[in-house]
Amino acid sequence: MRIWVDGVIGDEHTAKVPVVDRGFLYGDGVYEVTRTAQGKCVDLGPHLDRLERSAARIGIELPPRDAIIGAIHATLEPEGESYVRVIVTRGAGEMGLDPALADRPRLVIIVRPLSLPSAALYEHGASLRIVSVERTSPRALDPAIKSGNYLNNILAIAEARRSAAYEAVLCDERGRVTEGSSSNVWCVRDGEALTPPTTVGLLPGITRWRLLQLAAEAGVPAREVELMPDDLRGADEVFLTSSIRGVLPVSKVDDHEIAVGPVTRRLLTLYEDFLRSGRL
Ligand code: PDD
Repeated sequence: MRIWVDGVIGDEHTAKVPVVDRGFLYGDGVYEVTRTAQGKCVDLGPHLDRLERSAARIGIELPPRDAIIGAIHATLEPEGESYVRVIVTRGAGEMGLDPALADRPRLVIIVRPLSLPSAALYEHGASLRIVSVERTSPRALDPAIKSGNYLNNILAIAEARRSAAYEAVLCDERGRVTEGSSSNVWCVRDGEALTPPTTVGLLPGITRWRLLQLAAEAGVPAREVELMPDDLRGADEVFLTSSIRGVLPVSKVDDHEIAVGPVTRRLLTLYEDFLRSGRL
């Protein structure tokens, strides 16, 4: 791994953050995850835009965008494709919840060689569990803010793993499907790709956004619509999207077997072609 902390590049053994950093104490920070394709960060602009929106929502002042981009480039692996995590915490200071106690934001970049799910998972599909853990309400901790506080998601994936599922799907307090613990969720009905609208309270995924664009350009019907758990269980096809996984087919939702179908395959190919195209 190569890790940038406030201008110093180290690795997982040498990189240091004070234990009184609020990112460590409270998850008081924001972050983004992207990957490289042909050595370039995928959709870096949209990721940094989202980082800015997240930071603004919780009142963290980011370093200038040029400084963040410079730090990313300085940290990238010279060869091969990378996983890139950009973290900005509110910083350290006197202990206490009051954000005014923080000294100054701390920038951390974690880069490691990219490792994707296995080819078998893309071929045969992953399993999902619709969990009892609810997604946090937008009025409590808005899922649109990509903060370092992932306990809600951790509880959800832990529940899914107890029934041997690959990913959890969280619903809101009204029972509507929101998203996965670290992915957006889609289904296909009558040839149309459907994903919940951001108004239900979810992270507006960059891959989700990109795929909606690619689908529109390619004439594949895709739109946002509210979904209930039975819409996923009874769907023709289901798949996930996230920056690292791209488009990942799903073959099971709870106890319902789902075929990996043509619309998912078409969208997976569109996204892979996009990664190869260099228009990142
Ligand atoms: N997670 N929803 C949640 C809760 C997520 O954490 C993520 C991404 C997504 C997909 O968003 P995107 O397409 O922008 O990656 C949806 C990243 C990959 C992570 O935490 O590792």
